[in-house]
Amino acid sequence: MAIERTLSIIKPDAVEKNHTGAIISRLESEGFIVRAMKRVHLTRAEAEGFYAEHKGRGFFDELVTFMSRGPIVIMALEREDAVAKYREVIGATDPQKAAENTIRKLYGAHVGENAVHGSDKVETAVREIGYFFAGYEVSPRA
Ligand code: CMP
Repeated sequence: MAIERTLSIIKPDAVEKNHTGAIISRLESEGFIVRAMKRVHLTRAEAEGFYAEHKGRGFFDELVTFMSRGPIVIMALEREDAVAKYREVIGATDPQKAAENTIRKLYGAHVGENAVHGSDKVETAVREIGYFFAGYEVSPRA
């Protein structure tokens, strides 16, 4: 398996509830290395740009309103098979359907407020990391 990077966002609901540290700690314990990290409060336009592929879907307005309502923590994470492994650790999009002990099961409330985002595939991860980080901000592998 290859070393990959994936984009992780700790969403406003989890940041508001002070779960940032617990989520980062869990991800590190699962073998992810934080290659870049920042805490930002997105404008609505920035949230719309990030989720542009969902424009036109019924939940788009709710999604961008939520993602711009408070600070988020964005990370570029690295490990072997990072995209699939991260998706396993966070669980299903709907926290009520997520497996026990996954991050969304532990910290999410419902599909609209599900604590974290993750890239769905490697190509998406490259685009998503590039949306939020300049190349020099993502530390090279030692
Ligand atoms: P995320 O992994 O950030 O990618 C897109 C997001 O859209 C998803 O998590 C959900 O939070 C959100 N989403 C998907 N389906 C719905 C829905 N039916 N209602 C509200 N939000 C949704």
